[in-house]
Amino acid sequence: MEKAELLIKHLDLLPHPEGGYYKETYRSTEMIPNENLSNNYVGDRNVCTAIYFLLKSEKFSAFHKINQDEIWHFHEGSSLKIHQISPEGNYSFICLGNDLLKGQTYQHIVLAGYWFAATVNDKNSYSLVGCTVAPGFDFKDFVLPKRKDLLVLFPQHKEIITSLTHS
Ligand code: GUN
Repeated sequence: MEKAELLIKHLDLLPHPEGGYYKETYRSTEMIPNENLSNNYVGDRNVCTAIYFLLKSEKFSAFHKINQDEIWHFHEGSSLKIHQISPEGNYSFICLGNDLLKGQTYQHIVLAGYWFAATVNDKNSYSLVGCTVAPGFDFKDFVLPKRKDLLVLFPQHKEIITSLTHS
């Protein structure tokens, strides 16, 4: 079995709606009551959550956004490109990986409210990373836009939005 499949099995990863596979590894028992959260949140949230996230080369993690800053950690495999579009419409990307001399970084923070997507840099490979958020993740905060809706917001980024949205 190829390494990515072994990891999916060993780490008990499940398909994620954005693309790729994930497993929640931590959900704090402590909660933040809704009155202490910003108006973007409906309901209470755990203080913090973390996941493993695995992406195969031939797939991509589609543009989406959440309410929280998200800390990405490189674990192993190919380096991974994180594509992000700020709420103001500025596109940038960074490479998460372990070759610091090539400008890769072990950790990257995607800021709250940014639209972001990911691709694997090497062919026939995969990237295994971690994603940590505080307040904790809840699918209520997860926005996976249709390609056409994101194109209305950012027509200047037609090429990257078209290639990194599923429908
Ligand atoms: N838990 C389920 N999906 C996600 C995700 O996309 N990011 C984070 N940080 N946690 C999750």
